[in-house]
Amino acid sequence: MACGYREACEKYAEAVEKLSFRLLELISRSLGLPADYFNSKFEEHTSVLRLNHYSPCPVPELALGVGRHKDPGALTVLAQDEVGGLQVKRKDGEWIGVKPIPDSFVINVGDCMQVWSNDKYESVEHRVVVNDKKERFSVPFFLYPSHYVMVGPVPDFVNEKNPSRYREFSWGKFFKRKRDSNFKNLGTENLQIHHFYISQNSSE
Ligand code: OGA
Ligand code: NI
Repeated sequence: MACGYREACEKYAEAVEKLSFRLLELISRSLGLPADYFNSKFEEHTSVLRLNHYSPCPVPELALGVGRHKDPGALTVLAQDEVGGLQVKRKDGEWIGVKPIPDSFVINVGDCMQVWSNDKYESVEHRVVVNDKKERFSVPFFLYPSHYVMVGPVPDFVNEKNPSRYREFSWGKFFKRKRDSNFKNLGTENLQIHHFYISQNSSE
């Protein structure tokens, strides 16, 4: 039976959601936590599937497909075609292209995981450059917690030697403020996860 656009998106979202929860389990275990540690934060998860189309641009050095940013949620599962253009920022500040590998996904750790892990994991800064000849398609799935979840470092990772690095925040409010700040005319400050950073130096 032919599968329409809506059905295809629904089927894909279902499958990629399953995959992202599996990845969440693996990340939990990698942190020494029970596999289902984060599950309760996703009971009414607000995840999003996005379909991106980047048109070719005759002067690619003057435009970006997506400006630099960090994905705000727990993790992102990104499918991209063979054109390329996604770049991640290395620690030394250099932008590195993420080479498309056929039949594979790119997984980004997001801001929530950075905070939950108290910086054991870091949300990667990335952007998309455009191509002068080819159009590009990408399909990211963003795994987002339930609206009402409070996000703060996992208590196991906080002790006298490793104080909490972040103030707790509401996922729903954080996400809304972040979206609003994408639109300059709302006059809101561009919200970033480092705004929740607790200074570890009391003289600052
Ligand atoms: C995004 C994003 C990357 C891409 O939508 O948040 O980073 O390759 N997309 O399209
Ligand atoms: Ni992104």
